[in-house]
Amino acid sequence: MPSPWGVGMGVPFRCGALAVLASLFLLGCEARRPSLSTAPAGGSEVVVSGDTLPADVMSSDDAPSTEGLSTTLGGPLAGLDPAELARFTAGRDEFQDQETVENGLGPVFNEASCVTCHDSPVGGTTGRTETRFGRGTLMGFDPLARLGGSLLQDHAIGGVTIGDRKFVFVPEVVPPEANVKALRLTTPLFGLGLVEAVTDAALLELARQQARYAPAIRGTPNMVQEIPTGAIRVGRFGWKAQVPTLHQFSGDAYLNEIGFTSPEFPDENLPQGNREVLAFNPAPALNDSGENVEEFADFMTLLGPPPRGPRSYLTELGGQVFRQIGCASCHTPTLITGDSPVSAMARRVFHPYSDFLLHNMGMLGDGIVQGQSTGRQMRTAPLWGLRARPAFLHDGRARTPEAAILEHGGQGSYARSRFARLPPFARNALLAFLRSL
Ligand code: HEC
Ligand code: HEC
Repeated sequence: MPSPWGVGMGVPFRCGALAVLASLFLLGCEARRPSLSTAPAGGSEVVVSGDTLPADVMSSDDAPSTEGLSTTLGGPLAGLDPAELARFTAGRDEFQDQETVENGLGPVFNEASCVTCHDSPVGGTTGRTETRFGRGTLMGFDPLARLGGSLLQDHAIGGVTIGDRKFVFVPEVVPPEANVKALRLTTPLFGLGLVEAVTDAALLELARQQARYAPAIRGTPNMVQEIPTGAIRVGRFGWKAQVPTLHQFSGDAYLNEIGFTSPEFPDENLPQGNREVLAFNPAPALNDSGENVEEFADFMTLLGPPPRGPRSYLTELGGQVFRQIGCASCHTPTLITGDSPVSAMARRVFHPYSDFLLHNMGMLGDGIVQGQSTGRQMRTAPLWGLRARPAFLHDGRARTPEAAILEHGGQGSYARSRFARLPPFARNALLAFLRSL
């Protein structure tokens, strides 16, 4: 069943001046292929997305889009009430708190605070990468949990004395059994409350529409278990869309990045997979009552989307090219939220430039299996806020958006080769558009 908003096909393509110009630079015209989105169909001004802007939007700063929901980069969502703003601020403080060994940091961990990786500004990304490993065999993928996988903790609390016994906790290393090793870049968290507020039904419908209208690039949802309800949900967070909610990601990150246990993640991470050494854990009791997890989730839920950068004739032309060469098929410009207890977030149109589905990216895939995601599948990276990112792709291998596009394989190969064949003017317009997001 379609969502009550009727997952729409976006506005029909209007053959405006931009399109004519864009077609001059492009072979073939796929302009009539509708771009898939969950925005309500037709009529309302908010359906107009970056790919089909009428002429009067090109020169105005008040284009209908995510702008209405943003304040500043790192600021709260626009339109919050005072109580929500207070939750945002309290959450942001907790998010920046540095944990200590006495309180529960470690024994192995990656950093002592969320902000060490998610910063510049708070909630963004410093470009810090972390390591995942595992073993791929004909029988399937083994995350090597018994050896501390799949996430490596590259820090440890060091020497501990319990009674008259001493023990030294050391950082984990990739074990020789691993034949898959992949880096993962820290992603920015701006606007993720909106992403969470999109219904599962809307994302499933988007996947169905892709299968029907653009089968060559069709995405699949990563159906994963929600903790603590056990419900099977559409995952949407993380490079593999492996986590369904911000609350769950908070508890998961608190445990796996910082070494803090909490009610839904009560079991301490085993250093290099070794349970025995936990006898030396200096903080064996539950480290957080659940309050901090809630505060992280509050901050992320209420964190505004990245404001759109300056637009020009060139960026709008680039938006047309983006759509015509098939980028928008996966990087869905427009989504709409469902109901939300936060009224500023309910039934809002926004522009993440992602379908939050998995796509087979060929050799670009990282080889790690998570939930239903295979080694080759990755979540379409949202492109909003692209201009504020230090590096691109899951492992940060690309230093420029252009390099990132040229790495697209598998279902992304066709769009990549169309990009590679663009004449310089159209290519520059596309890159200017990406830098304006
Ligand atoms: C050591 C660096 C590091 C620390 C510390 C860290 N993160 Fe992250 N964060 C990452 C990386 C890397 C990813 C991508 C993870 C993946 O896909 O496996 C990520 C992804 C996320 C996401 C998903 C974002 C998206 O784009 O879908 C959320 C939510 C998140 N982190 C929240 C937190 C919270 C809350 C904390 C503190 C409890 C935290 N992180 C601490 C590195 C870190
Ligand atoms: C088949 C779906 C698909 C198509 C078509 C596609 N992309 Fe992507 N794109 C992805 C996925 C998946 C990723 C994440 C790859 C990874 O995890 O390393 C990505 C990543 C990116 C990134 C890096 C973003 C970041 O934050 O790291 C950019 C830039 C990008 N795409 C631009 C484009 C452009 C421009 C086009 C059209 C030429 C395009 N993409 C076509 C699926 C697609």
